[in-house]
Amino acid sequence: MATFKLNINGKEQEVDVDPSTPVLWVLRDHLNLVGTKYGCGIAQCGACTIHLNGTATRACMLTVSSVGNSEITTIEGLSEEGDHPVQKAWLEVDVPQCGYCQAGQIMTASALLEKNPNPSDEEIEMAMNGNICRCGTYTRIKKAVKLAAKS
Ligand code: FES
Ligand code: FES
Repeated sequence: MATFKLNINGKEQEVDVDPSTPVLWVLRDHLNLVGTKYGCGIAQCGACTIHLNGTATRACMLTVSSVGNSEITTIEGLSEEGDHPVQKAWLEVDVPQCGYCQAGQIMTASALLEKNPNPSDEEIEMAMNGNICRCGTYTRIKKAVKLAAKS
């Protein structure tokens, strides 16, 4: 066990965990930030996507000892009231079906638009490619990313 001071959603958080613990489990089991989901545990589905210094990152393969004081943002910290432009577009297009993958989808889409506010269809497809949706909401995801880009 070791003590880590983490910068999560703009707040310092201290946790005592094994250094090899993935950030996903620190968020969910130690800090009750359960919006970040577990899907595969091997960086293949995108359900656990967070922002690490603004870049979409899989929390299931990111050890707590590797993040230092990097800025971590989870779905809970993306906006105060759930009103980030991507979240608003998601609501307007009514993207989710079961919802399980959607926090990860939104985190990937918001990181994309932060770096590239006006992505082409191909750029959207490339950025969202690693986020799997078992309900097949891909068409609506693409539509919502474009809507968010316009706003
Ligand atoms: S749970 Fe992390 S990518 Fe699937
Ligand atoms: S909405 Fe069900 S897995 Fe994506």
